[in-house]
Amino acid sequence: MSAPVTLVTERLTLRPPSLGDVDAIVREVSDDRIARWTTSISHPYPPGAIDDFLAMVEDDRAAGDGWTFAMIERSSDVVGMVRLDRTDLDDTGEIGYWVAIDRWGRGYATEASRRILTYGFDDLGFRRVRTYIMPANEPSRRVLTKLGFVPDGHGPVEAPARGGPVAMDFLLLERRAWMDHA
Ligand SMILES: CC(C)(COP(=O)(O)OP(=O)(O)OC[C@H]1O[C@@H](n2cnc3c(N)ncnc32)[C@H](O)[C@@H]1OP(=O)(O)O)[C@@H](O)C(=O)NCCC(=O)NCCS
Repeated sequence: MSAPVTLVTERLTLRPPSLGDVDAIVREVSDDRIARWTTSISHPYPPGAIDDFLAMVEDDRAAGDGWTFAMIERSSDVVGMVRLDRTDLDDTGEIGYWVAIDRWGRGYATEASRRILTYGFDDLGFRRVRTYIMPANEPSRRVLTKLGFVPDGHGPVEAPARGGPVAMDFLLLERRAWMDHA
């Protein structure tokens, strides 16, 4: 079992998403400028999907399989989401995130990811964290590069919300590179 965790950065509080966040989350993920870059957020956003999402977050956290954090600006709404999952590979995590469109370009994805990666390497004991991006997703590639991720091949990834497998670039961050980079 894994207890809920709150992480703090310079500008953000990262805490599990809750029912009070539903309106802000649904408003953002209903916008195709966010959904289209993800494998799991359907567009249009289906009725009831937010309930499934919140239940999955809680189940994964309790099982120690995944840690999802809402990014909260000081005393404000949700301005994004960042997630670290345990993969079926030994000691390997997988990161994902989105940021509210009117907050893009302020460094929030980088700031929140940096904190969740520290949590993953220091507290969860991951030895590496991987992720994948659509080749055209330059903002996300830039975030990952700033964090020290390096290219690690490419290939199709199952993307139910995009209607099937999608070509992706893979990126990897080894703990040693993270320690050198941090
Ligand atoms: C990707 C995303 C999370 C980035 O969030 P963000 O808070 O704006 O990210 P940051 O501000 O930390 O960094 C963005 C970087 O991309 C750069 N950037 C933005 N648009 C760019 C473009 N078209 N080409 C290249 N770089 C770009 C920014 O200049 C910044 O880099 P810099 O700090 O060197 O100037 C946000 O765009 C988003 O939610 N996109 C939709 C969902 C998504 O793609 N999720 C990730 C799926 S893999």
